[in-house]
Amino acid sequence: MTNQRLSCGLDLCCAVNLNDCLIYASESRYDFICVSLVHPLFKREFISGPAKNRPGPLTRPDLILNSSDWNNRIIAKFSSLINVDSTNPIIRKNSEETLNQELGLASHFGLSGVTLKLKYGINKNVNLARIISDKISNHNCTFQVWIQVPMENPIRQTYSYRTEDYPEDENPWEWWNSFRVICDYNKKLGVSLIVSHDLPEEEEIDRWLGEPVRCLILPTTLFLTNKKGYPVLSKAHQALVRRFAVQEVQFILTGASRYQSVSYYHNYLDYLWKGCQNDGTVEKFARGYEDYLQCPLQPLMDNLESQTYEIFEKDPIKYREYQSAIYEAINAIVYKMQEERTIIIMVVGAGRGPLVTASLNAAKMAYREVKIYAVEKNPNAIITLQALQRDMWKEKVTVISCDMREWNPPDKADIIVSELLGSFGDNELSPECLDNVLKFLRDDGINIPQSYTSYIAPMQSSKLYNEVRQLRDKDKHPLAHFETLYVVHLQNKYDIANPKPLFTFKHPNTDALADNSRYEIKTFQVEQNCVLHGFSGYFTAVLYENITLSIEPSTYSSDMFSWFPIFFPLKEPVQLKAGDEIVVHFWRRCGSKKVWYEWCLSKPIPVSIHNITGRSSVIGL
Ligand SMILES: C[S@@+](CC[C@H](N)C(=O)[O-])C[C@H]1O[C@@H](n2cnc3c(N)ncnc32)[C@H](O)[C@@H]1O
Repeated sequence: MTNQRLSCGLDLCCAVNLNDCLIYASESRYDFICVSLVHPLFKREFISGPAKNRPGPLTRPDLILNSSDWNNRIIAKFSSLINVDSTNPIIRKNSEETLNQELGLASHFGLSGVTLKLKYGINKNVNLARIISDKISNHNCTFQVWIQVPMENPIRQTYSYRTEDYPEDENPWEWWNSFRVICDYNKKLGVSLIVSHDLPEEEEIDRWLGEPVRCLILPTTLFLTNKKGYPVLSKAHQALVRRFAVQEVQFILTGASRYQSVSYYHNYLDYLWKGCQNDGTVEKFARGYEDYLQCPLQPLMDNLESQTYEIFEKDPIKYREYQSAIYEAINAIVYKMQEERTIIIMVVGAGRGPLVTASLNAAKMAYREVKIYAVEKNPNAIITLQALQRDMWKEKVTVISCDMREWNPPDKADIIVSELLGSFGDNELSPECLDNVLKFLRDDGINIPQSYTSYIAPMQSSKLYNEVRQLRDKDKHPLAHFETLYVVHLQNKYDIANPKPLFTFKHPNTDALADNSRYEIKTFQVEQNCVLHGFSGYFTAVLYENITLSIEPSTYSSDMFSWFPIFFPLKEPVQLKAGDEIVVHFWRRCGSKKVWYEWCLSKPIPVSIHNITGRSSVIGL
């Protein structure tokens, strides 16, 4: 999360004078207030009835606040009398007019947010979804709509105080899910989650983490009083706030204050929020890149830039692990060696030389003489390697400027070291490059890494679905943006199931005919109703024996930031039910000039093959 300060608003059930309310809120340290635009009891009758021709203004004029205050400090609530899905046509029509009138006012005031509460499932909200969708699909609409959704169905909450079983109820997540589908995942829709006293199961909270939750609504009744007489949240509610802090949610405090000043709640939330700041190495490095889609690098086809190398070289873990692996490999070679001789190490894809330095350090630690060949095809990085060789490494290192697939080495290597790994392991074409250097390796030689495996996991993330949807390029195939893999620092997501291994590559690959194409089918169980938007991808690599690198969450190499996960989108979200099986098919396909992935679903519903023939995204050889 970014180091953002707490943003907290105050929900006011009645605002007689908006200026006074804003002064009251800011004196109590709140950033904004949540108020009705029109007095909640101000009934309007557009068709017939006594109010139809009522004279006088409907509500306050815009002049009472300046536009900056309207814009930044007011979140509008709509009249509670509105029921646009009523079966009574007069009420429905009247409500439609009323809602449109208030939506129009929100635009006129230049508000940045309005909020409305879902009380039922979609059967009673389709017309509401249509009207909201109609409004926010208009490019001129400046505001976001925060849909208030209770964390727990109010019926279930009522029954939690009774001994009898409660009737089968619908989870409010379903209300939200259907509502946003009807609104076609409009980006201006967000969730304002009303936090309940009894929190739902962890898994349900996890599912909310895959939704665009913009705000947590905290009723004052949630707070307990500590020994010093101040409001605090229970441990469970604190943990909840911490989990959502990653997504930089805002807060709204609602309900009557039970303390001398409403600022006490703010003080406590501010304290809690400060404790949520995560200043770990990876978080610091990734700040600003949360859920940001990036195209994977193609270091074989393209020449990396200086800045990219510089970022790699800052990783505190990767080179340390490589150095340990090279050290262990040198010892293993020495142990088996028949005669005393210099050990030959080839660093293939040497970049600006950090693995050459790691090799020299490892040799020094093992008290062994080594000769190192540093092979690199990027002519710009070669300049750095040559300078380092001249000034530091001297005769221990020979710099070779060529593509490793075309090199004819004068010696055979004891150890071949490379780091040609992408976020999905093989996606920077390490297998294709290393198959070609197998001939340089002595029969008892060691390849570092020895193997790597990609992993995939089904994922719900309406945020990423929306981000991908926006990347449509009119010059490309209409689905190209959904048939491309992205590197993403994943945040706003729900992991539907744990990752499973997909493709493994071992080096040296001594198969008579090296075949780097793959086809795997993976099955995942669905625990609760949710939506599948795509698959997250990770990798693990065995550098040497038990020395590994991993970005797979269960074995993550802490503090390593060289690789963010990968995301394989699906062109259409797939609605899943608890108990469903997801069966996904993944191919790695190889041509003479390119490699590409294809993926499709056969269960719970068939979904056509993405990126067939590599029509949308390929990795150039
Ligand atoms: C991911 S970078 C790693 C660079 C460096 N080893 C490091 O760890 O910072 C991969 C490097 O391999 C080089 N490379 C990729 N394919 C190559 C090939 N076929 N022959 C030579 N160099 C290659 C790229 O130019 C790039 O410098």
